[in-house]
Amino acid sequence: MPNIHDQRLLIIDFGSQYTQLIARRVRECGVYCEIHPFDVPDHFIAEYAPMGVILSGGPETVTAGSTPRLPEAMLAMGVPILGICYGMQTLAEQLGGVVQASDQREFGHAQIRAEQPSLLISALGGAEAGHRDVWMSHGDKVTKLPEGFVVTASTASAPIAAMEDPQRRLYGVQFHPEVTHTAKGDQLFSVFARDICGCEGSWTAENIVEDAIAQVRAQVGSDRVVLGLSGGVDSSVVAALLARAIGDQLTCIFVDNGLLRLHERDEVEAAFAPDSGIGSSLALQIKTVDAKDEFMQKLAGLSDPEDKRKAIGNTFIDVFEREALALDGVKWLAQGTIYPDVIESAASKYGKAHVIKSHHNVGGLPARMALSLVEPLRELFKDEVRRIGRHLGLPDSLVFRHPFPGPGLGVRILGEVKAEYADVLRRADHIFLTELRAAGLYEQVSQAFAVYLPVKSVGVVGDARRYAHVIALRAVETVDFMTARSARLPYDLIELVSNRIINEIEAVSRVVYDVSSKPPATIEWE
Ligand code: XMP
Repeated sequence: MPNIHDQRLLIIDFGSQYTQLIARRVRECGVYCEIHPFDVPDHFIAEYAPMGVILSGGPETVTAGSTPRLPEAMLAMGVPILGICYGMQTLAEQLGGVVQASDQREFGHAQIRAEQPSLLISALGGAEAGHRDVWMSHGDKVTKLPEGFVVTASTASAPIAAMEDPQRRLYGVQFHPEVTHTAKGDQLFSVFARDICGCEGSWTAENIVEDAIAQVRAQVGSDRVVLGLSGGVDSSVVAALLARAIGDQLTCIFVDNGLLRLHERDEVEAAFAPDSGIGSSLALQIKTVDAKDEFMQKLAGLSDPEDKRKAIGNTFIDVFEREALALDGVKWLAQGTIYPDVIESAASKYGKAHVIKSHHNVGGLPARMALSLVEPLRELFKDEVRRIGRHLGLPDSLVFRHPFPGPGLGVRILGEVKAEYADVLRRADHIFLTELRAAGLYEQVSQAFAVYLPVKSVGVVGDARRYAHVIALRAVETVDFMTARSARLPYDLIELVSNRIINEIEAVSRVVYDVSSKPPATIEWE
């Protein structure tokens, strides 16, 4: 098998909120790439030896002298470069062109007109002289081309909307081909990565799996590995991958903390059972630990969200450590770290668009247990993790699950957590998700769940007065979970769910639907 990392592109991050999208589009063309901040050292660029470079957009202006620039070493390499938005502007300026602030910001849909035959621009389709729909978001624009460049596309407000020097294989586009609003933007990346840079496209699910298996085998040899299996997509895919790679050297520990969704434990066990699609070919050992009482005891009397998070995290570490150390000779801890986590922790000191996540599921474990880490998904985006999960034979019900927070229902029961509240919430949540699936809307929303509000409200059921607690329903649409808006679910569906919850669960007198956006609200209630 060819080394799937050999033919690779380098994405230089100038702080755009779309940088990860650029990398995902390139990967979708079957080409490996990595994102690195614009201030990477020259020796890194030489060692990385990309077949091409893409420069992201960014929030700064090249009209100010102190803003980020492209390392000169990159220009000297002679490989193709594609600058997007800010990336195009800094490329133009550094090569002797001129960039100026526009009177008006151009934001949203725009149409470009092709000005010259161009391999890159013709990838966007349309008649040769026709218009193409693109997405713009810029204040500055290139007003004078650098030596050797031609204009390949224009818009009404940006006469130089795309430029290139085909001899030197340098390209710039003012619009954003990485966002889906730019029609056929993916084709533009394919032409750049494959036709212009010459990458062959060996980054496929099959090759990624084979490569990861070979790497894990080389890394751990005949040592034993332990994995915390949560039932989420990432840890399930790690389990499937490691089981393929090292078979019975792997032991998975599934901790039932009493804060799981209804049937969650059964579903995970069933997904990997010997008679399941994947289980029949794997000898996966899962050790299920019932630690419900321990968690409830640690949570008793706590109502502050941060205190609850800490208690749940620490108890998880205690239980996991105890169980893992009870296994003989474990040397490695496997984790489902994925590429966005890696990018975030390595972000440039400059990276203004990066938001630091405060959620860590198993922080503290490796240091405390003196185990080395195996992280076979470190290079992968979530959509790639899903793709290889499917390739490995995991059921869609696991692969396309909504995210579920590490502290589980613990942050969806407001205030003090009690086992009876968790039981009620599990049932209400299950009704909501069942009806959402039945309406064909589960895949349309990014995350949906119920929240337990321990405030009392009066209701009337039959002829009787009911004075009981409230359930809130939350469903959001989001791309990156950093911002989100409440999903416009059909009223009939919300009403059906509300009726079912109140009729079937005596401990609930009222159901409400949360319409807050993030920001200012967060997705979870705590
Ligand atoms: P918020 O509530 O911050 O959530 O808008 C954004 C996304 O992160 C998930 N989330 C967590 N995930 N541990 C996790 O693993 C946590 O403590 C945690 N808190 C929130 C949340 O479900 C949403 O997908």
